[in-house]
Amino acid sequence: MKRIRIFDTTLRDGEQSPGCSMNLTEKIEMARQLEKLGVDVIEAGFAIASPMDHKSVQAIAGAVSECVVASLARCTKGDIDAAWDAVKEANHPRIHVFLATSDIHMQYKLQMTREQVLQRISDMVAYAKGFCDDIEFSAEDASRSDWAFLAQCYTNAVAAGATTLNVPDTVGYSTPQEMSDLIHYLRRNVPGIENTDISVHCHDDLGMAVANSLACIQAGATQVECTVNGIGERAGNASLEEIVMALRTRRDFYDADTGINTRQIYRSSKLLSNITGVPIPPSKAVVGANAFAHESGIHQHGVIANAQTYEIMNSADVGIPQNTMVLGKHSGKHALREKLISMGYELTDEELEAVFARFKVLADKKKNITAADIEALVLHRRHNIHTTCQLVSHVVNAGHGVPNLSCIKLRRDDQEMEDVAIGSGPLDASFKAINRMLGLEQQIRLESYSLNAVTDGEDAIGEAVVKLATAGGKSYTGTGLSTDIIESSIRAYVNGINKMLEEAN
Ligand code: KIV
Ligand code: ZN
Repeated sequence: MKRIRIFDTTLRDGEQSPGCSMNLTEKIEMARQLEKLGVDVIEAGFAIASPMDHKSVQAIAGAVSECVVASLARCTKGDIDAAWDAVKEANHPRIHVFLATSDIHMQYKLQMTREQVLQRISDMVAYAKGFCDDIEFSAEDASRSDWAFLAQCYTNAVAAGATTLNVPDTVGYSTPQEMSDLIHYLRRNVPGIENTDISVHCHDDLGMAVANSLACIQAGATQVECTVNGIGERAGNASLEEIVMALRTRRDFYDADTGINTRQIYRSSKLLSNITGVPIPPSKAVVGANAFAHESGIHQHGVIANAQTYEIMNSADVGIPQNTMVLGKHSGKHALREKLISMGYELTDEELEAVFARFKVLADKKKNITAADIEALVLHRRHNIHTTCQLVSHVVNAGHGVPNLSCIKLRRDDQEMEDVAIGSGPLDASFKAINRMLGLEQQIRLESYSLNAVTDGEDAIGEAVVKLATAGGKSYTGTGLSTDIIESSIRAYVNGINKMLEEAN
């Protein structure tokens, strides 16, 4: 059976998509989860892009030990120097250099001739090789490049020391048959390609990224580039969970597998959604809320008789928590720890304390606490630790035909502060009071707001997500959790502000 390497680019291509930016702490948390998931390569960022990108690639290089850590670099010495500087402390560093090879990119973007591009590839792959053994070369827009010229580009990259050749369908234009033919063509026409990994990187503009990636695997690709939840530029990248589960579920067809611990898939997906505030669409394959739900009577009947009538995967194999065992207000820390372990979460004592404190608060308000509730508490535990501002109390007076008024008390460092504001609704009033208290009225704007119920029922926890935009054009996502939706919204707002303040410090 073929072993396919999973190159995860959630923290680079994924993070480039609108609304998906993450701060340093979040990137490190996500990278650690990717390592638990068992990806082979983490593309940690584009080190030259900004000092913050450089810092995060460097921090991830120090935070993971098993995975290869890659930084992207254009074919210039400055980019390659920055990439190497950021990944050099990793146990397994990789420099990923790229240059566009399609006529349209060379003419309009690079303003370079084919000869110049060929020379640049040779020079810059060799330059990167001077730092690091593990060099990946990507021909950007490969799928729209002239095939003979493309083969020459890869030939130069191999001759200069590239160990992985990546074939991107940068604009998501190709079909599975075309991608498959291209991989076969390159295997026949690039001398030395048999000693390298052949990688594919497909975008989802026509909804074919996963199908294209799988077709390339059949044609001989040994590495796929993908992201958790399929996030990425424009319509996104190929989704990691879909590729992995397709290979696993249809092993009979693909005769290939990955090193992914599939039981960590759901957790990785939820963590990313929680960090970015980008919800998982309900009908998203593998991880969507409806992926294992059966609504029609005929289907329900079939599944009760034999799950395989309508389920081709087992939800437990993807790590979706079973909601059977519940905890309540008499459950102790030990029971909570056991439940967490059964769900695959191993927390430190400090983290368990924080989750347990929130569990007790929730248990006072909600009779039966399910796995979904507990998961939400774990994902939100970060908010209790290292925060600059904390919500102490809120009183809201809202209704129709009366002024909507909110009184908020916050603690910033060791100081308590309080303010009252009137707004068009209870949340507007609360957010105004917070902005005034912190002197942020001119600096931030509420960009978007959403509220989701974590579980069913009238005592469900509400998870609020706010996106705050700063005057400087930056955006911060805050999330908050409570059975009281006004409280979860205020917490989400304060959480977003904390992220902004943390970055400013
Ligand atoms: O889509 C693309 O071509 C890329 C490359 C930089 C690999 O992201
Ligand atoms: Zn891409």
